[in-house]
Amino acid sequence: MEPLAGVPRPELLRSAAVNLNHWYAVALSTELGHKPLAIQIWYQDIVLFRNPQNQVQALENRCPHRSVKLSSGYVQGNDIVCVYHGWSFDGTGHCTAIPYLNERQKLPPCRIRSYPVQERHGFIWLFPGDPAQAPHHQPLDLPEWAHLNYVVSVAPMDFQAHFSFLIENLMDMYHGHLHRNFQPWGQAVLHKKSRSLDWIEAEYHAECYFRIDRPWSVFQLFIPRLRRGFLTSLVVRYEYPHWHSWLGNDFRLYCLIIPVSTTQTRAYLIHTVSLGAFQDLHRLPIWFRRWVKNRCFNAAKGFLQGLIREDVLMMEQEQQAHLENPQARGLEVNPVVGSVQKLIDQQAQIHKTKD
Ligand code: FES
Ligand SMILES: [Fe+2]
Repeated sequence: MEPLAGVPRPELLRSAAVNLNHWYAVALSTELGHKPLAIQIWYQDIVLFRNPQNQVQALENRCPHRSVKLSSGYVQGNDIVCVYHGWSFDGTGHCTAIPYLNERQKLPPCRIRSYPVQERHGFIWLFPGDPAQAPHHQPLDLPEWAHLNYVVSVAPMDFQAHFSFLIENLMDMYHGHLHRNFQPWGQAVLHKKSRSLDWIEAEYHAECYFRIDRPWSVFQLFIPRLRRGFLTSLVVRYEYPHWHSWLGNDFRLYCLIIPVSTTQTRAYLIHTVSLGAFQDLHRLPIWFRRWVKNRCFNAAKGFLQGLIREDVLMMEQEQQAHLENPQARGLEVNPVVGSVQKLIDQQAQIHKTKD
């Protein structure tokens, strides 16, 4: 077992804050249309809306007049309009109009908080920390999202537990036991782990049951009888605050994490399958390859949702057990878990020193 030196006590770990000075994928681009969208990240209520140039704007979701939610309002030109008395706010958070001001009254000098925000790889990324830090960080790279050689599926995940339970779940590949009926991987053995200040990587040797080398291989996703196990490398990487993994040559998984509170977490699980083995496909016109990619989008969504259901059940039980006995520390034999706990604690300390 790994020594406990540096591993935070359970009551600290399960209430650890997040380091907000990172880009968080708060919504899929397709989730934000013409109507404002409310999102939450680490105790902050935020409203997203699009201006006429289709650029995303992000503001504190609170009207400074009577503190109702701006997300209940509507977009008009460059502004979001509060539904209650019609005050308008632009993308920088300045109040631009109050419809019933008389000529002797001036606009109050109010300004609500605005957030750096950008669209990339199919997601809306928001920087909830110090805005001056935003240019020094980048959203997690997700090259398969647009690449024609990959079929992508995505499923959201909402659950009532601290985000540390999710990271531990994602980094401890021995939990393949839980998903044995879906056979995403099996027989994992930890081979090595490495870490730096803001990432941890673990390599397992594991059985993969999916080999995408024939046009009909994709049916393996739906018909377990077609699956054949073969040994391959399974690399998982916690690249704070997100996670991604490689299973053999054909599969990548990402988990983009949005901590909401100490007992609530949201995430997007993204599955990508390489079509690299189909040489003939690559000789076809780009428009056709794009059509295939779009037609196959979310082909594995049901598979992801099955995994999510099983994981959420476990993580919510862990959270419940923790709330009933906050000092209890579980027994652990996978050294990766202790490393994850230390990293979460260190990033929480960075958050504290910057407060
Ligand atoms: S509460 Fe928003 S305009 Fe009055
Ligand atoms: Fe899982």
